[in-house]
Amino acid sequence: EPEEALKLRPPIITIMGHVDHGKTTLLDRIRKSRITASEAGGITQHIGAYKIEHDGKPVTFIDTPGHAIFSSMRARGADITDIVVLVVAANDGLMPQTLEAIAHAKKAQKTIIVAINKCDLESANPMHVKSQLAERGLQTTDFGGDTECVEISALNGKGVDELLDLLALQAEVLELKANPKGHARASIIEAKYQQGRGAVASVIVESGTLRTGKPFICGPFAGKVKALINDRGEAIKEATPGTPVEVIGFEELPRVGDSLVEMENDRTSKKLAGERQEELRAERLKVPQK
Ligand code: GTP
Ligand code: NA
Ligand code: MG
Repeated sequence: EPEEALKLRPPIITIMGHVDHGKTTLLDRIRKSRITASEAGGITQHIGAYKIEHDGKPVTFIDTPGHAIFSSMRARGADITDIVVLVVAANDGLMPQTLEAIAHAKKAQKTIIVAINKCDLESANPMHVKSQLAERGLQTTDFGGDTECVEISALNGKGVDELLDLLALQAEVLELKANPKGHARASIIEAKYQQGRGAVASVIVESGTLRTGKPFICGPFAGKVKALINDRGEAIKEATPGTPVEVIGFEELPRVGDSLVEMENDRTSKKLAGERQEELRAERLKVPQK
């Protein structure tokens, strides 16, 4: 990409951690504190990702269920995540999925920021969590290490602003940019069949601008963007880099982690889909029969 074509884009923050340590509660808290009271009633979290503004700057969050760390990190998060927020419940400490998340974030060389959650509880022991983190090579800054760590309560909101400030600072350091022009490329983070709508996927735009009416290829299938729905459930016409959006218009259910790539026209998308399907058939034939 020519340097001048690149524009700042929102950081993509993936929330990870053990089951029930409070990831979704934290995201709900962040989202709710940033919408006006009049909107609050009507908004349900539409997709497992959304964009907020913090100090006038957009930030995109992806939620991951604790029971699916491995597949989520590998498939939905790995390439598009800029920063991992590791949520650890202060009354529970590091648990199997916490360790899994640490291992995957390290392997993918992602910056980890730790949110020690549930600090409102009587049984909370953030010091213990910090010593556990240190044992895993994540020494926190207050102990001379370089892992940023915030003590929070997703339930009452304490420490959440501090976490957002840290994320904003980290994002600034990373200077994240993408080209909003040219053919769109987006990563599938969720996909499901919905009655009356067919195969629907949540994506995060990586580059270019995704627009309704545009043909695309995703895995071995052609498609066309019939509708784009934002994280508030509103139909929109276009989505820029770093934006999470729901896409309607898939021929088949796409796989999480696949890339949706805008094509010039229906002919080119169908031709490429045909070629990819042919390749898959050829590969299948090569598998030795038992
Ligand atoms: P999975 O998606 O299943 O992995 O769980 P999760 O990490 O998203 O946890 P979730 O937000 O669903 O919270 C699990 C439970 O912990 C809920 O009952 C929350 O109300 C509670 N909880 C979350 N944050 C806090 C907190 O800061 N303090 C207290 N006391 N409870 C919390
Ligand atoms: Na839960
Ligand atoms: Mg959750």
